[in-house]
Amino acid sequence: QPDIKNLKDEMEKQLPGSTYALLTDISRTAERTGSRVYLIGGIVRDLFLERPNDDIDIVVEGQGIDFAGHLQADYGGTVKMHETFGTATWIHPSGLYIDVTSARLEYYDRPASLPDVELSTLSEDLYRRDFTINSMALCLNPEVFGDLVDPFNGQADLRSKTIKVLHNLSFIDDPTRILRAVRFETRFDFLMDKQTESLALNSMARMKDLSAHRIVEEMKRLFKDENPPGTIKRLFKLRFWQQFGVDDGNAEQSYIHAGQLKTFYEIHKPPAGRKARWFNYFAIPFFTSRKMHLMHQFSLTKRNHKFLQDLRSLSDIQGVEQVRQPGAFHRFLKHYDDEAIIFMIAKENMENEDVITTYLKRRVDMPVFLTGEDLIQEGMKPGPHFRGILLDLEVSVLNGEINSTDEALDWLHEHHIQQD
Ligand code: CTP
Repeated sequence: QPDIKNLKDEMEKQLPGSTYALLTDISRTAERTGSRVYLIGGIVRDLFLERPNDDIDIVVEGQGIDFAGHLQADYGGTVKMHETFGTATWIHPSGLYIDVTSARLEYYDRPASLPDVELSTLSEDLYRRDFTINSMALCLNPEVFGDLVDPFNGQADLRSKTIKVLHNLSFIDDPTRILRAVRFETRFDFLMDKQTESLALNSMARMKDLSAHRIVEEMKRLFKDENPPGTIKRLFKLRFWQQFGVDDGNAEQSYIHAGQLKTFYEIHKPPAGRKARWFNYFAIPFFTSRKMHLMHQFSLTKRNHKFLQDLRSLSDIQGVEQVRQPGAFHRFLKHYDDEAIIFMIAKENMENEDVITTYLKRRVDMPVFLTGEDLIQEGMKPGPHFRGILLDLEVSVLNGEINSTDEALDWLHEHHIQQD
């Protein structure tokens, strides 16, 4: 395949009309102000891959903040400056966000391994980025609109489905890039080249220097992508989990559990959500190696804490395999959240999976036909036994045996009041 040199047609074809129009607006302002302006990053990569992306990042050779001001003067909207970073966000009247950065960034250290060859300001900016496939730019000035700037041959790496860093210190500069590499691998079905993979392995110990927050942010993005089981497996191979105290021996088991969880959601579509939440997948390797307490090194939300707590006590529950009626599950599982229940049962391949999902679906909007007040109204003496009676009632409701307040009252009189 010959190299593509200009992507104007692709831009016009693939980008939403409003995005394309915006780029031509930016082009006019570049011309008017004599600035050289480029479209950069993920959107360029995704044009080659024909994947939707309308995230406009532009780089200006000159002052990004000034250029954002010019855009506002020409087309309205507002500008948010991030002075410490020399960047700005132009918020277009339509509500689109356009990030504008300067190629001449003084706040960044020059990369330690900058090659001897003189790089243009733009190439220098590109050289600071993570991977060759993300280090391509498209000119936006009118006479060169859509011309590709690709000093590190990202196009060839896209073609060979390769994730490749630009220099040997890339992962040392920023260990989250290892997680980004895995994300791009699984999302695009690409692979790191040998050199990049060995740099990733060698820099993995640095992961522990990152704040919990940054790791969590990357995990959210990783486990939102298509293939959580594959991601878990890959992260074992790169020794990510091992940095945080998970044992080597649990890779296979974790991988399998993640697959089962994913399948469970796909088949049963339980009320917990369309997909398992990222935190479920993140927890699996810790769970399979019985090291859930180690998850506390990541600053967790209340919801995450409850999930872990639920898992801990659910692992002791026995006898669920024998249950054949939705209501009967209620006796075991009343106090547990959906996602913890699903997490535990997905890995068991139980014959009564369907009954459990029916239970979960019914309990979401289980009607309350009687309360303790009603029992008193019916002449019963209040006491701790009320709890058992109301639980029995819920069980019958979940089984579909009681469908109205009248039926509930009949049931009450038959089972409890006569015997009082
Ligand atoms: N980038 C980087 N190092 C990072 C994060 C980002 O070099 N640790 C650069 C990459 O060149 C990337 C650009 O900043 O293309 C924008 O980052 P981001 O929006 O996070 O990534 P995208 O490549 O757009 O990925 P996605 O499609 O998932 O948004």
